[in-house]
Amino acid sequence: MRKRVIAGNWKMYKTRDEAISFIYEVAKVIPDRDLVETVICAPSIMLRDLVKREDEHLRIGAQNMSQHEEGAYTGEVSAKMLTSYGVEYVVVGHSERRDYFHENDAIINAKTKQALQHDLTPIVCVGESLETRELNQTNTFVKEQILNAYEGLSTEDALKTIIAYEPIWAIGTGKTATKEQANETIKFIRETISERFDAITAEDIRILYGGSVKPNNIDELLAMSDIDGALVGGASLDSQSFLKLVEAALK
Ligand code: 13P
Repeated sequence: MRKRVIAGNWKMYKTRDEAISFIYEVAKVIPDRDLVETVICAPSIMLRDLVKREDEHLRIGAQNMSQHEEGAYTGEVSAKMLTSYGVEYVVVGHSERRDYFHENDAIINAKTKQALQHDLTPIVCVGESLETRELNQTNTFVKEQILNAYEGLSTEDALKTIIAYEPIWAIGTGKTATKEQANETIKFIRETISERFDAITAEDIRILYGGSVKPNNIDELLAMSDIDGALVGGASLDSQSFLKLVEAALK
């Protein structure tokens, strides 16, 4: 059985006070980590405050980090800085980073390796544009993203990662992929993992769906055979809405 994951991605929202009051509201009611893995991925500047206030069940992740170990990279944050503050997860290869900050597959592969080297759990994001979907190229495109992101990883490493399938056309648009579309692509990602690694890894790796996930559509997504949770933007900003998503994952 794959343990479900509900991960919030706050993107560039919230002030310090807003972030702290969110954590106070959710940390005390977050279910046991053994039942569902609950993560908040916050802007780097907030991570220290959030880690200090989390309880043992809520986990904190970063939204990005450098692919380099250390060095003269002004403005960057390294994996070992994150772990030294108690951060446990990091989003890697989000489409917003790929598009606006020109992160390519090689950078994403390097970041994934760097995260694993420092015992951070990478949440590796893949997903196609509307144009790619309309050209019926979704599987080819996503397969290449996966193979490139996992280049040089061992089976053991792959199992420590989480994949998030986030079709770009569904992010922040209110246009969720249908549960069938999401499940079909996630199943295909599992087949890709099976070919690249083995059947057991494909069976055990967690794959989330992301893109306009809300309390009113989470149930049907989670009911699908291959969807193990969600990476959530907008609906993770409000504590009550986030808690509803976490509750849904407990059912
Ligand atoms: P929305 O849930 O706001 O569509 O964002 C999805 C996302 O990009 C999570 O990483």
